[in-house]
Amino acid sequence: MGPHQHRTALGALNPAERHPLPPALAAQCFGLLAVGLPALLFFPSLLKQALLLAMLQGGLAALAARWMQAPPWWLAIHVGFMPLLVLVRMLELPGWIWPSGLALLLLVFWRTDRSRVPLYLSSRGAAEALLRLLPAGPCRVIDLGCGDGFVLRYLAAKRPDSRFIGIEHAPLPWLWARLAARASGNLTIHRGDFWAHSLADCDVAYAFLSPAPMPRLWAKACAEMQPDAMLVSNSFAVPGQMESQRIAVNDRAMTYFYVYRPGSVAV
Ligand SMILES: C[S@@+](CC[C@H](N)C(=O)[O-])C[C@H]1O[C@@H](n2cnc3c(N)ncnc32)[C@H](O)[C@@H]1O
Repeated sequence: MGPHQHRTALGALNPAERHPLPPALAAQCFGLLAVGLPALLFFPSLLKQALLLAMLQGGLAALAARWMQAPPWWLAIHVGFMPLLVLVRMLELPGWIWPSGLALLLLVFWRTDRSRVPLYLSSRGAAEALLRLLPAGPCRVIDLGCGDGFVLRYLAAKRPDSRFIGIEHAPLPWLWARLAARASGNLTIHRGDFWAHSLADCDVAYAFLSPAPMPRLWAKACAEMQPDAMLVSNSFAVPGQMESQRIAVNDRAMTYFYVYRPGSVAV
């Protein structure tokens, strides 16, 4: 099974994948109770072995998460979360570090729990492949969730005849993309939710998201895009839809582009 097929198969999500925070919290609480209570009641001397208890807690939390069918990367988070917390506490960092770290994470990743789309960036190879896909004449291109805006800056520099629009909801990547776009006269970066932005006047919509929003993106693209307009999805296929082109990108991640013409599909 190739990487593109694997990612396509992730299209159907179980409840723990759709709403990951409540089961994650439950798994952590289970680990805490299952380790903390016996230690407190029967082995109080163990309470001094914080790292050992944290490792046990992490293991049990991961088992509980597995039982709740959480995706594999959550198991790693459960195993590492409490031990890391204990290790970092041992460093006796000043108290302001914690809220600052949380604020930074929030500013970079925003509501990943809701969007189900974390920040990871397209490679240069992907930007080059997208450039080759653009129509020959002047066109409008949108990056749905543009992150740091690298792809759009690259395209805007190569295609001065065309217009490029990026939409990003996470504050820090948006600010970065916006500041870096100041030098490009044909690139605009908006802060906001791309679901609220019409795709009607785009010739190319580029998306590097995750399996979770693909069915909704497909419905939006079919309803809004013109018949000859192109939806290019980096890595994630639309479940149940045949792409008009599948392109292997020449990069280390062995990226695939899935290219669709949603506006030409009868709905
Ligand atoms: C995987 S990154 C891709 C970034 C960029 N397109 C690239 O290819 O390098 C996805 C981005 O989409 C943003 N995002 C997710 N849902 C969004 C939404 N509903 N509106 C705007 N941005 C969103 C995330 O914050 C993240 O920066």
